[in-house]
Amino acid sequence: MPCELDSLRVHGDCDVGWDANTPPNEVVDEYGVPAQGPGFGEPDPRAPSRRVYDDAEVCALREHLRASNGIRGLEICTPDEIERAARIYRRDGFVVVRDLLNPAQLAAIRQGAADVLAEMLSQPGYPGRKYVAESGRLAHRYCYGTSSSSRQMLHHPAWVQMIDLPTATPILTEIFATDDYLVWGAGGDLSIPGAIEYQHLHTDGVDMQNREEGDRRLAFARRQGLDIEAGKSFEDLDFRTQRLVMDRSPGGVTINFVMTDLTWENGPIRQIPGTQTATQPPPVPAEEPEWMRLSTLVGAPAGAGILRDTRCWHGATPNLSREIRALPSVEFSAGWREGRGFQKAMPHEMWQTLSPHGQRICRFVKQAPGVWPYGAGDMQPLASKRREGYQKGAGANGTVRTVYTDPRSAGTAVRIFNQDGASGY
Ligand SMILES: [Fe+2]
Repeated sequence: MPCELDSLRVHGDCDVGWDANTPPNEVVDEYGVPAQGPGFGEPDPRAPSRRVYDDAEVCALREHLRASNGIRGLEICTPDEIERAARIYRRDGFVVVRDLLNPAQLAAIRQGAADVLAEMLSQPGYPGRKYVAESGRLAHRYCYGTSSSSRQMLHHPAWVQMIDLPTATPILTEIFATDDYLVWGAGGDLSIPGAIEYQHLHTDGVDMQNREEGDRRLAFARRQGLDIEAGKSFEDLDFRTQRLVMDRSPGGVTINFVMTDLTWENGPIRQIPGTQTATQPPPVPAEEPEWMRLSTLVGAPAGAGILRDTRCWHGATPNLSREIRALPSVEFSAGWREGRGFQKAMPHEMWQTLSPHGQRICRFVKQAPGVWPYGAGDMQPLASKRREGYQKGAGANGTVRTVYTDPRSAGTAVRIFNQDGASGY
């Protein structure tokens, strides 16, 4: 284990990162072998040519970001501004709410996030590289959820404590216009210092807008007070109103929790306002305009939550600082998804610790009593090892597929799809 991992923490400076021997835009395959080339990951054509803190190109990018990074006039709500938060969320596709976590909760998830990352980075990397990389993701970037052999962090108490927060639950209830929503997963993106590339803009999944979901989504839209004539079904509506119903019924709301103040330098997430309703794909890196690269949430403070419509275009940005930028998350789903494709990644005993509301919204992700969720607790950045971890846990009760997805469709190009006998996807 590299000795600098002893200094690892997810707020404030530490010695982790900046591996000069990992070339820009390097991506590894499921076995950890560098696999550069078209069709594998999405390179950033404007990245500095060396992963070195004092490199002239890195310094030039740093000065550019110091001068210009961040959305001007970013609105930040307080937890009691429930209607305002929901209004901004529906307008922009995301909203920042400060103080979702109290100091004790923030300390607990900081500790959990640091411990889990140290465990991931202690695995051996490709020869000559300082760290193991995550399959299909740009260097120095990881995701807690996709690195877990169970695909989720729902076995970890630090993540589970964020499921039913007294600060966040009323805002989620306002956004979904009911408290009958669901938990789908938990994870979260992170970058260590020296992640010099922009991650491509993407959506988390694609809203297929199936017509058979129309009436359930219409009920969602009506609960928000949309003025749609009573008695009409989705099929009765004109096309423009049908579009509005789809726009106003997001299938997923993710909350990313902010571990350290997001600054111009430490890789703030970028969000493109209003794109939650776009059906066209986001621009590829070579065509992304500079204003989108600078459309980041600089100023979101530690302890805040970023509530985001999973359809909204977003991506990670360069972490040129010396601090780790982790955004652990809980992923919520609209009730109209009815648990389809959910994985049983939460141990029954963990589920029992939840509030009655927490238990209800986690009913589709809870494993049976006495059964440890397959692969839970086994953190593996490499997809091949994750696959082994899931198979070891599931035995004959589950199957797992490794899929190379369209690199533009999500944050990573290599994905593991776990499926157990009763659920999964
Ligand atoms: Fe994403």
